[in-house]
Amino acid sequence: MAAQEKRKSLQGLWSSRLVFILAVSGSAVGLGNIWKFPYIAGDNGGGAFVLVYLVCVFTIGLPIMMSEILIGRRGRRNPIMTMKIVGEEEAGQSWWQIVGISGVLAGFLILSFYSVVAGWALAYIFKSATGTFHGIDGPGVEKVFGDLTGNWQILMMWHTLFMLMTVGVVARGVQRGLEQAVRVLMPALVGLLLILFVYAINHGAFVEALNFMFRADFDRLTADSVLVALGHAFFTLSLGMGAVMAYGAYLPEGTSILSTSIAVVFADTIIALLAGMVIFPIVFAHGLDAGQGPGLIFQTLPLAFGQMTGGVIFGTMFFVLLSFAAWTSSIGLIEPAVAWLTERFHMQRPQAAWLVGGITWVLGVGSVLSFNLLADFKIWRPGKDPGTIFDSLDHLASNLMLPLGGLLIAVFAGWVMCQNATSEELDIGDGGIYKLWRFLTRVVAPAMVLLIFLRGVGLI
Ligand code: PHE
Repeated sequence: MAAQEKRKSLQGLWSSRLVFILAVSGSAVGLGNIWKFPYIAGDNGGGAFVLVYLVCVFTIGLPIMMSEILIGRRGRRNPIMTMKIVGEEEAGQSWWQIVGISGVLAGFLILSFYSVVAGWALAYIFKSATGTFHGIDGPGVEKVFGDLTGNWQILMMWHTLFMLMTVGVVARGVQRGLEQAVRVLMPALVGLLLILFVYAINHGAFVEALNFMFRADFDRLTADSVLVALGHAFFTLSLGMGAVMAYGAYLPEGTSILSTSIAVVFADTIIALLAGMVIFPIVFAHGLDAGQGPGLIFQTLPLAFGQMTGGVIFGTMFFVLLSFAAWTSSIGLIEPAVAWLTERFHMQRPQAAWLVGGITWVLGVGSVLSFNLLADFKIWRPGKDPGTIFDSLDHLASNLMLPLGGLLIAVFAGWVMCQNATSEELDIGDGGIYKLWRFLTRVVAPAMVLLIFLRGVGLI
């Protein structure tokens, strides 16, 4: 279509398909896979939860990822303007920009607590390197973690450092530097997880862990767990908030959206499952509690590092790589807001990045204090027990805003955009695969999200 050919991305294009895959996987693979997945699987009883998460990833996540990329490339702007432009073009409706606006807000909220946890990872680099974990036992790891999170000044320092790292990269433009880093660091992270995996097989309660992760016991599955699994499918794939849409805006014409999405979804899922198969064997071998919450990986992995030969080196490397994985994700969290400020208000990129980073940093103070001074301050949450500021921000953004954003994106790509437009962008003909995508996007994804959402918040 002539209109699309004329529209150019304002921020440049990815230099190749591989780079795009790396950038989207860089955004997808992060704390969500290694920190959050094991801890929420533990909190929600394992097996059945993991199964629901996998079903959500493949039947909802994959088609919505394709939708986000195709909408992004069609609009070639930040998510707010893209949803407006494409909405007007396809249906004369500009109100679809709400999806972009809610995405930008969700990005702020998520990064504010994400940065605090990434700060823990940074702190653990130094703990590992200085031998803190050498020969440590169960109560020992609990104390190290408790001492860190109990001290708000130290947490603030690490949170600030991580925000500075994020803003530093985004200010310079996503393409420079980051691409190179992702290329090397992602394979290294997987390599290290594999080493830990071998350790877990040899020294952990591996069979018990497999049972826990893969034996589905549906009695333990509540409506809330299903909502958490759905929310996590969005969170871990960076969907429902425009991050992937923003990246799609820089995708050259002619790059296959289908194969790219499949590659990213598989990579993300395999890394999460691998993380679980490293962490749970250690949990059970040491009699730890799988449902101990956000501190889980910070209290299990150090036990392994403390016992293995070369543990100081492996441990340090692991937390370095975890910090990098968080870093490449945090960039995706603020890219929509930064792109919007530069394209809509003609702000300079560095200024936009500092502004967004500053607001997020202030919001993050609430999460820092959730672990110490404000630990007893609990907020009401729909369909769930009251939670700390940290828990509530996560719940609001991940389990409510992302699924709702994803629902609207699916409806937009499936019902509002005309068939010609979507099949032209996807470029997979109009055979079985296209029809399957369209069916999942029009019917399955919206219906499942709506159902799980309404049940999860107790409305049905
Ligand atoms: N997908 C990232 C993770 O799993 C988090 C994220 C969410 C990043 C949304 C960007 C956008 O850690």
